[in-house]
Amino acid sequence: MTPPVNVVILAAGKGTRMHSDLPKVLHPLAGRPLIGHVIAAADRLAPERICVVYGHGGDALPQAVGRDELIWVMQEPQLGTGHAVQQAAPRLNPEAVVLILYGDVPLIRAETLQEMVALAREGAVALLTVRLANPAGYGRIVRNSQGGVERIVEHKDASAEELAIHEVNTGIMALPAKRLTAWLKRLSNDNAQGEYYLTDIIAMAAAEQVPILPCHPAAMWEVLGVNSRAQLAELERTHQHNLAEALLVQGVTLLDPKRIDIRGELTCGRDVIIDINCLFEGRVQLADGVKIGANCVLNNVEVAAGAEILPFSHIEGARIGAGSRVGPYSRIRPGTELAEQTHIGNFVELKNSQVGFNSKINHLSYVGDASVGSKVNIGAGTITANYDGANKHHTDIEDNASIGSNCVLVAPVRIGAAATIGAGSVISKSAPAGELTVARAKAVTIAGWKRPTKKMKEER
Ligand code: UD1
Ligand code: CA
Repeated sequence: MTPPVNVVILAAGKGTRMHSDLPKVLHPLAGRPLIGHVIAAADRLAPERICVVYGHGGDALPQAVGRDELIWVMQEPQLGTGHAVQQAAPRLNPEAVVLILYGDVPLIRAETLQEMVALAREGAVALLTVRLANPAGYGRIVRNSQGGVERIVEHKDASAEELAIHEVNTGIMALPAKRLTAWLKRLSNDNAQGEYYLTDIIAMAAAEQVPILPCHPAAMWEVLGVNSRAQLAELERTHQHNLAEALLVQGVTLLDPKRIDIRGELTCGRDVIIDINCLFEGRVQLADGVKIGANCVLNNVEVAAGAEILPFSHIEGARIGAGSRVGPYSRIRPGTELAEQTHIGNFVELKNSQVGFNSKINHLSYVGDASVGSKVNIGAGTITANYDGANKHHTDIEDNASIGSNCVLVAPVRIGAAATIGAGSVISKSAPAGELTVARAKAVTIAGWKRPTKKMKEER
């Protein structure tokens, strides 16, 4: 039977250099906490258990992550990486292979981890290492004369000769649980930092002739950690670059791959075009031939085939029907569904409304809590007065209705099919189908009326 995978995520570090009240691993990268990325990579190995070692921030971390099936282990005080794994050891399946990850190293790829797990399943210690031009601060990989890994020496404990080694420990390793737990019992804190170093188990493995197999990431960004806001910002750019590259490879046109941000999951059909400075949040689906203009924000949106979103539009929690045209400067709020070939124009706000086939709301309107039929035209400056100060009410506008400019539809109200509403009307009673309804004061002309003139100041 293949041994199951148990993942241990180390996340008890203080994160002092973030200068933040938020635990470091909860700082978002691409809209998701750092540790969320690590858990997602772990998930792809179908692990039997995921154990997170945490310390600072108390229950904020388990609560924010919100995954009940994870095993949360408090490490207090924090006496080093070896001490951290010791806290998790009783929760591990002795038959498993253990994969050790860092909660602040978010971009590790599941493919890299899979390789390491395979080696550990054969009984080896798989150790992820990289060569750095400047290895300062890292644990150095000390090899013997045959090139085999012998031990890891931490920077602060290293001799001048060892400091000259460029191959460093990333901290990520995979190994059989039984061996790990036995070695953990023998750790001491007799070193420069007075810490229990997890890295000391490597010399124990070597002494017992357990194979130690170095693995290497496909790219350096996989193993970069976040200790400061600057490093977080840098990794955010790296990640966004990777996401943009993947879209290009898949056939999406990005007018500038450097100017797109994806904080969630963006899926695109064929021949999608995305102009500059767009932000995609949550789950966004763009079907075939969709065009997104510059400076749009889309949050949990489905855009059907051939629809076009013009610049500066903000759309959240909505479905945009095929062939529709939205924007520029449209705001579409949650619960809105546009059917096919609708036109929503500049400075139009829609909320929780259904708009039928080929209907047009082209300028300066607010339509909320409304059902709009097909082939309806709503003139400039029309609003649904859906809120009476206490409750929200619904507006029904039936097929082929035509609402003139600057109308107020006081909900609850119904505008019948093919009704016409004269411009400037305040409609507080339902308007019958097929008729013209006008509700506005008649214009009067006062013949011979004179404008007031300024009085002359009295002379002194
Ligand atoms: C560790 C490694 C070092 C490696 C480096 C890579 C040890 C002794 N050293 O260095 O060889 O080159 O990572 O970055 O393992 N943590 C806890 N509890 C603790 C201490 C740390 O959970 O008591 C967590 C931190 O939150 C972090 C990770 O372990 O996610 C690494 O800790 P950090 O202090 O950054 O690494 P070093 O010990 O300096
Ligand atoms: Ca440390």
